[in-house]
Amino acid sequence: MTDPDLYPVSAAWAERAHMDAAAYDAARIAARDTPDAFWAEQAKRLDWITAPTIIKDVSFHKDDFRIRWFADGVLNVCFNCVDRHLPERADQTAIVWEGDDPAQSGQLTYAELHREVCRMANVLKALGVGKGDRVTIYLPMIPAAAVAMLACARIGAVHSVVFGGFSPDSIAGRIEDCGSRFVITADEGLRAGKRIPLKANVDAALEKVAGVETVLIISHTHADVPMIAGRDVRYGEAKHGVSDDCPCEPMGAEDPLFILYTSGSTGKPKGVLHTTGGYLFWVSYTHELVFDYRPGEVFWCTADVGWVTGHSYVVYGALANAATTLMFEGVPNYPDNRRFWQVVDKHKVEIFYTAPTALRALMRDGDEPVKASSRASLRLLGTVGEPINPEAWRWYHEVVGEGRLPIIDTWWQTETGGALIAPLPGATDLKPGSATKPLPGVELELVDAEGGVLDGAASGNLCITDSWPGQMRTVWGDHQRFFDTYFSTYPGKYFTGDGCRRDKDGYYWITGRVDDVINVSGHRMGTAEVESALVLHDVVAEAAVVGFPHDIKGQGIYAYVTLNAGVEPHDDLKAALVAHVRKEIGPIAAPDSIQWAPGLPKTRSGKIMRRILRKIAENDLGSLGDTSTLADPSVVDDLVRNRGS
Ligand code: WTA
Repeated sequence: MTDPDLYPVSAAWAERAHMDAAAYDAARIAARDTPDAFWAEQAKRLDWITAPTIIKDVSFHKDDFRIRWFADGVLNVCFNCVDRHLPERADQTAIVWEGDDPAQSGQLTYAELHREVCRMANVLKALGVGKGDRVTIYLPMIPAAAVAMLACARIGAVHSVVFGGFSPDSIAGRIEDCGSRFVITADEGLRAGKRIPLKANVDAALEKVAGVETVLIISHTHADVPMIAGRDVRYGEAKHGVSDDCPCEPMGAEDPLFILYTSGSTGKPKGVLHTTGGYLFWVSYTHELVFDYRPGEVFWCTADVGWVTGHSYVVYGALANAATTLMFEGVPNYPDNRRFWQVVDKHKVEIFYTAPTALRALMRDGDEPVKASSRASLRLLGTVGEPINPEAWRWYHEVVGEGRLPIIDTWWQTETGGALIAPLPGATDLKPGSATKPLPGVELELVDAEGGVLDGAASGNLCITDSWPGQMRTVWGDHQRFFDTYFSTYPGKYFTGDGCRRDKDGYYWITGRVDDVINVSGHRMGTAEVESALVLHDVVAEAAVVGFPHDIKGQGIYAYVTLNAGVEPHDDLKAALVAHVRKEIGPIAAPDSIQWAPGLPKTRSGKIMRRILRKIAENDLGSLGDTSTLADPSVVDDLVRNRGS
């Protein structure tokens, strides 16, 4: 009997793909049993100045904790993403740009990209940026963002890209944490027709943090922005007369490539550090395998370069593989909800990679906006960022893909550099809602709360028992936090923070975060960050934030707020608090719901019982569990009574 929930690999895919089922099995075994030989061979996909002889040098254990890959290899990331394609592909389009305004688009060939990157690199050098310096990039989705990242990589500078939706405070925090003396921004960005005041946000950030010497400003909307003498430099002027030739700095494989801040379950966002050799290898390898990518195919990953997905698959993985990569400045529903599919037709997109939250929002508007397009160029559809519910998966498959395209659901994290669990189009039968199976070299384990290893079909916490080349190497400036966050919960294993089920066929089904991280529209947010922002407000005494299921966003943000004595609760105050969080962190952190909480459920030692708060937010009032250990159990009755108020 055929399983209606199994979508087998087609003969055509098995035929054309880089990896069929037998090759996948062989690669998994080789990566496990003879890792040095396997990865040394695979690493030949990169151009090395000095090929590595030390391949895998790893221990997850406290006493000899280290993660190093290809350690004695020397290479340059920008050379691998740009220069090495020039002999054969100088005139191939490297970047297609589609503006927020449908009338605006453009493209850069590899030869043009090379020239632009060299110029930017020379401008940065002239401004004093050197190897190892941190450069903060705060740009919209325009080719200059990729150019800036590659220019840093070319000269060995370490970039820290900050998403254009983050507030001045968030920018300031990130600049301070990594001690960045240089910022690259634009006059403004555009989003759904609205102007985003990027330069003004940087100005506001720099009032709060010292140490930035130079701000380089790219002209995008040509808005008239105030310039601060001695600090601000217009890129359009600086690049005049600069050479369009710039040598690539030879970098050790373990030299830092970038820092990207991401939310954790406690404290401030942490600077995830990725290095040159292992990261580039992993994003290139996975981009080829999971999308079955061939050079020159038009590849569209809708993520912003401010997130890891944009780093790995808009820029580095795609360009390392000689892609034509599409950068989209806009949003799926502007000017209207046909936009994604219009862009697919306009640029003949072959591979389309987006987030479930976008699909759920579009699905709500029915099939017509999709059917108004041809989508004939598409051959593969991908998703990333959060669990995809089977309904959205089927809609993606049936309506967008007309039943003819594989859906590649990729599970990974900022920390993992690139995809770790994903089907391969020529090797893996698909099940709607499952990211399916681990890629070669990825050793998964499910454990229970005590760390006991679960075999066979089971549900538990998802751990990874061995390293893969794309793994993050440290938290910038806090190596102890790196170890403590990921390797101390279950000693000897990397703990992902995700819950997961494995079915009888060995397929993995991610169930979501099991820690205090929430995933809002595919964006990670720490509950602690939102709480810290709330308590900064004058009227707030205390706040506790949890996630709750949300039809479109996956998870929404639910905040319990205790007001200072004497402050009267009212709806305008809720609006003010939402606005306050938007200002402190950015719009993505804005609570969907605020409930006044005269008291919060705490243990006698003062720890907030989030489990109970989550249940109340989910309106799952029948299973609040044992409340007898609370210092004041009546607090819970009050919260339940006033739920949603
Ligand atoms: C979640 C984004 C289910 C997961 C690349 C993970 C997913 C967190 C999937 C990392 C997926 C990402 N299915 N859940 N395909 N992809 N997640 O760091 O909870 O922004 O831990 O990286 O997103 O989010 P991050």
